[in-house]
Amino acid sequence: MTKVFITGGAGFIGSNLAKKLIDRGDQVVMIDNFNDYYDVKLKQDRIKKFLKGYKFKLYKGDIRDYKFLEKIYKKEKIDKVVHLAAMAGVRYAIENPMIYAEVNVLGTTNLLQLSVRYKIKNFVYASSSSVYGNNKKFPFSENDSVDAPISPYAATKKSTELMAHVFSHVHGMKTTGLRYFTVYGPWGRPDMALFKFTKNILAGKSIDVYNRGKMSRNFSYIDDIVSGTITVLDADLSYGVMNIGGDKEETLMRYIEVLEKCLGKKAKKNMMPMQPGDVPSTVADISKLRKLGWKPTTRIEEGIKNFVDWYKSYYETK
Ligand SMILES: NC(=O)c1ccc[n+]([C@@H]2O[C@H](COP(=O)([O-])OP(=O)(O)OC[C@H]3O[C@@H](n4cnc5c(N)ncnc54)[C@H](O)[C@@H]3O)[C@@H](O)[C@H]2O)c1
Repeated sequence: MTKVFITGGAGFIGSNLAKKLIDRGDQVVMIDNFNDYYDVKLKQDRIKKFLKGYKFKLYKGDIRDYKFLEKIYKKEKIDKVVHLAAMAGVRYAIENPMIYAEVNVLGTTNLLQLSVRYKIKNFVYASSSSVYGNNKKFPFSENDSVDAPISPYAATKKSTELMAHVFSHVHGMKTTGLRYFTVYGPWGRPDMALFKFTKNILAGKSIDVYNRGKMSRNFSYIDDIVSGTITVLDADLSYGVMNIGGDKEETLMRYIEVLEKCLGKKAKKNMMPMQPGDVPSTVADISKLRKLGWKPTTRIEEGIKNFVDWYKSYYETK
């Protein structure tokens, strides 16, 4: 039986990943510091409600705390790591770059160091599509240069890729960084567009549409993201970074249109200029991960409907 250590286990992707791993018979150990970057109750409910009846071990603690982490590594005899804990979110990072550097760079380095010391078989970690910055070549490929990040968040994610490369090179540890592209779905993050749009449309408030709607994304449904992450966890590759996202480029306006249909309500749109640090388009070339046999299958019509159904039942606004 494989024992997997998930960092950021109370998070959106972490909790969904934990559920799938436990379902297939893996043992799961998690850490989360339940910080208040967004609603702490949602994080608690992912553990208490979404993972109700599931067997796992959860440590409340901080990945910046090397000694605390070391106790976990010593005690738990972990086989593999999926490192998802991070300060996520591009906009908040502009005002708070220090905590991003601390958590994302120092925290990741702590985990890499301990993973070498405790002979972890595979270290899979979250990078981000934001590393591509204002890349002008579409779709974004892992071979493109990512030397020009445009937010502190993106710079920390690129730094984790560099640090992982060092640990793979020097110590021969297996590491793969996953560049997630705009993940959405039930139990999602309140700071992300779909969540904010749904909340405001239901409340009859207007929604802020950045870059006047001239944005496009490979929106990535959570179940596809989880299955791709597990594919990489099982593959035990020696070193790499990989794009992981939906296979269809969708415009923001179409995304909103589908949401309006699912909610049965039109959005009042507040057309806004581009936000600093944000990018107009993130489109993924996912051929590298496809070669491992993975493919995304969820269309936005289905994914957004699942999100809306969950949102309404969770917030009881039916
Ligand atoms: N959701 C997306 O669209 C997306 C896109 C690109 C990259 N990512 C990356 O994927 C990972 C997971 O993202 P998510 O959407 O699930 O975010 P999330 O914020 O829901 O999950 C991250 C979890 O990490 C925890 N955490 C933060 N700092 C910590 C610390 N110092 N110690 C311990 N725990 C800590 C948080 O409390 C949270 O529960 C992150 O690394 C994020 O940067 C996500």
